[in-house]
Amino acid sequence: MSLRVLTIAAVITILMLSHLGKLTADDREKTTKSIEKETVATHQPFILRDEQGNAIDPIHDINTDRPYSPEQTCGECHDYNKITEGYHFTQGKEEVPPN
Ligand code: HEC
Repeated sequence: MSLRVLTIAAVITILMLSHLGKLTADDREKTTKSIEKETVATHQPFILRDEQGNAIDPIHDINTDRPYSPEQTCGECHDYNKITEGYHFTQGKEEVPPN
């Protein structure tokens, strides 16, 4: 292989590698941004409520001995009746516990 061909091959390789490096950095940034986006997109804050609708506040030790009610808590914004009709939600609903 002549020196000229080798030089051209080396330049092309260097250009490709530097370009690849840039692409990788861009991709990494894009991936990081999309992960951050997904990570930041958690559920909005809400107040836990017991069956009577009273707030449960573990930070201020209020009603912490009460079980939370999904109906009172999530039902404030979500259609509780619709959700509880769901296929997986209703699995085993008709089952009678063994004696
Ligand atoms: C104050 C209103 C409010 C309450 C209370 C609430 N949600 Fe949501 N929830 C929303 C809104 C608005 C969205 C859609 C936008 C979003 O994703 O933030 C949502 C989205 C969701 C999603 C879709 C995925 C997600 O995380 O975005 C799930 C699952 C969910 N809620 C479950 C629950 C459960 C379980 C409860 C109770 C423990 C609950 N929510 C209580 C308002 C509420």
